[in-house]
Amino acid sequence: MPTEVQPREHSPHRESSAREDVRLKDVSRSYGRERGGAIQAVAGVSLAVGRGELLAVVGPSGCGKTTLLELICGLQAPDRGSVTCAPAVLMPQRDLLLPWLSAIDNAALALRIARLSRVDARRRAATLFAELGLDGFEHAYPRELSGGMRQRVAFLRTLLSGKSVLCLDEPFGALDAITRVEMQEWLAQALAREPRTVVLVTHDVEEAIMLADRVAVLSPRPGRMIEELEVDIPHPRARTDAEVITLRERALLTLRLGGHR
Ligand SMILES: Nc1ncnc2c1ncn2[C@@H]1O[C@H](COP(=O)(O)OP(=O)(O)O)[C@@H](O)[C@H]1O
Ligand SMILES: [Mg+2]
Repeated sequence: MPTEVQPREHSPHRESSAREDVRLKDVSRSYGRERGGAIQAVAGVSLAVGRGELLAVVGPSGCGKTTLLELICGLQAPDRGSVTCAPAVLMPQRDLLLPWLSAIDNAALALRIARLSRVDARRRAATLFAELGLDGFEHAYPRELSGGMRQRVAFLRTLLSGKSVLCLDEPFGALDAITRVEMQEWLAQALAREPRTVVLVTHDVEEAIMLADRVAVLSPRPGRMIEELEVDIPHPRARTDAEVITLRERALLTLRLGGHR
């Protein structure tokens, strides 16, 4: 059942349109009003994400991207506007794996919280471990994994929550360039196997174009939608595709102009 989050209260569940998992209408959010100097993080954002669609949100650092994801997941309520969303899970910017749990137990955490037995939770997680190229690392601890592997485990944990909407907050932001490209390819394959509705926040325009069905470009703070780009390019995409390059340049120009034409 979808949830609607209204200003200053978490209102009861509401049916969303059958083909739309996320809808934001004119959403704004500020911080610190109680201390006088308000910081407006997000201003008047409207967007929709269809079932099974991958929307990438790009914008400069500090423009309100994380705030937007928290609004979508219902972790925050908007000051103005409305948020309607099917059950959603946030994969936070840092992987936040628990150091004392093995990779498989970290991945299966949501299942354990849902009161599955350890054996059943591990069994469910193990299937995906193999499917998503993590077999052999089930019993490794986070400290024994590379940055890319940790992100895969964190992504698996997000998938295993069973929510229909995945909100990914700069999942590859901390990785080196080569690992980042590998992880982008891995994510495209993982989502082809396990389709979900995805909102992917990134500051990497190329990553957005390589992965997304649509790219929303935000202005500097307060984040406003300044452009939406349709990415109608079949997978697998190549960074060197003329269409990829054209869209990348267009998004970069929009970012550089920051909404000023
Ligand atoms: N809990 C908070 N309290 C006060 N200010 C915040 C809080 N979270 C974010 N901000 C401010 O809101 C703005 C947007 O933050 P954020 O959503 O994290 O942007 P982004 O993810 O695009 O970097 C920033 O100026 C940030 O400092
Ligand atoms: Mg952020």
